[in-house]
Amino acid sequence: MVKKMQAGMDPKDPKAKEAMEHMQKMKPLYEKHDFWDTQPVPNLSGAFTEGEIEKGVLEEVKQESYSLPPGFEWYDIDLEDEEQLNDVYELLRDHYVEDSDHMFRFDYQKEFLKWALLPPKQNSDWILGVRGGKKNKLFGFITGIPVKLRIKGKMVKMVEINFLCVHAKLRDMRVAPVLIKEITRRTHIKDMWQAIYTAGKVLPKPFTECTYYHRNINTKKLLEVGFAGVPPGRSKSAHIKLLSLPKNDIIENVRQMERRDVKQVQALLDEYLKNFSLSFHFNKEEVLHFMLPRDNVVYSYVVEDPDTKRITDFISYYSLPSTCLKSEKHKAVYAAFSYYMVPKKHTIKELMRQALILAKRDKFDVFNALDIMDNKEVFEDLHFGQGNGNLYYYLYNWYINDVSTDKVGIVLV
Ligand SMILES: CC(C)(COP(=O)(O)OP(=O)(O)OC[C@H]1O[C@@H](n2cnc3c(N)ncnc32)[C@H](O)[C@@H]1OP(=O)(O)O)[C@@H](O)C(=O)NCCC(=O)NCCS
Repeated sequence: MVKKMQAGMDPKDPKAKEAMEHMQKMKPLYEKHDFWDTQPVPNLSGAFTEGEIEKGVLEEVKQESYSLPPGFEWYDIDLEDEEQLNDVYELLRDHYVEDSDHMFRFDYQKEFLKWALLPPKQNSDWILGVRGGKKNKLFGFITGIPVKLRIKGKMVKMVEINFLCVHAKLRDMRVAPVLIKEITRRTHIKDMWQAIYTAGKVLPKPFTECTYYHRNINTKKLLEVGFAGVPPGRSKSAHIKLLSLPKNDIIENVRQMERRDVKQVQALLDEYLKNFSLSFHFNKEEVLHFMLPRDNVVYSYVVEDPDTKRITDFISYYSLPSTCLKSEKHKAVYAAFSYYMVPKKHTIKELMRQALILAKRDKFDVFNALDIMDNKEVFEDLHFGQGNGNLYYYLYNWYINDVSTDKVGIVLV
């Protein structure tokens, strides 16, 4: 989620303020949840052992879809169909995630949606819409894709749930729980009983709380649109100068990833991701799909040893612009989001610094990264600023004890 940079905190007692803010954020965990309290997810009262929460029984899965409010119907969406893709694009462009000050809204591009939602072995009925009204307009959306998750050394088949969205006109009418129940039913039918998802809000009950960090690239523009601020005690020009990036590569032999690199990248990535408590296992087809560069979608680079031709390091980020809702001067902020970085010969700091240089060359305004994997190590030295919001990670029907952010090896786009 796009977060505005913090301009600074109360200098008097920042620790106390932080603790208060944290308590405030966690308040929903102490409240009643008409929907979530009926689901196999952890809550504060329950004692759980790590693993599956409830055993699913295939024969007991409801065969018919859940009922929708009168006048609305389920719709399996074919993203290869230009018109349907456009409907999804417009729903998300106009109604998906905004920052807390309603200054920016994610603007997932069409090619991006196809990339994110049409991986190998996708199920056609896991891209699910709700249509209704005179024009049979799209009012609701939710998606799943099949993934293999490595949790503390165990491999578990899961569904990655994403893009839950309800049109502003249909909000607060309990459509979201129906969308969640219907996609869950459709995954159960395929004998899938676990899911992973993230949200910008607290629901019962996250296993980790991550924070976005932002590295300005086009500082002047970010100040103009109100995405970033100048820290107290520094002039605007000094701030812009401090954040300027070199034009030249700092790593030798870095180049765009190509199809011939898939095998090596798959092995490198898999070896690295095993270091985390949770990570996806990408097979070769998935690496080809998710990691191979696509214009305006995903940008991937490898470092190749010129003598051995071995790939030693991997850099990737994805493109997710946001519409500026309140700026008269700028329509969009072009953001690159850190995807997977694999440091081996080079340090994570060298890779991230190289990523910033490449992202600048690719015309991005800002580079965003969560404090997951090894990312936290670089934020201070590379002048990332902490965002003012969080991203919470959840598992459905699987309990794990809380995981520290640096043990999370998963990026959900
Ligand atoms: C998120 C969204 C679909 C929820 O719909 P809504 O109309 O606000 O809420 P509804 O009345 O339909 O349903 C409320 C229930 O959904 C749950 N809910 C709300 N947002 C949720 C989310 N992001 N993930 C899972 N459940 C969510 C609520 O906790 C509540 O359940 P509870 O009573 O058990 O607590 C809607 O607000 C929206 O489209 N927002 C913009 C896009 C967005 O933020 N999407 C989520 C990205 S993670």
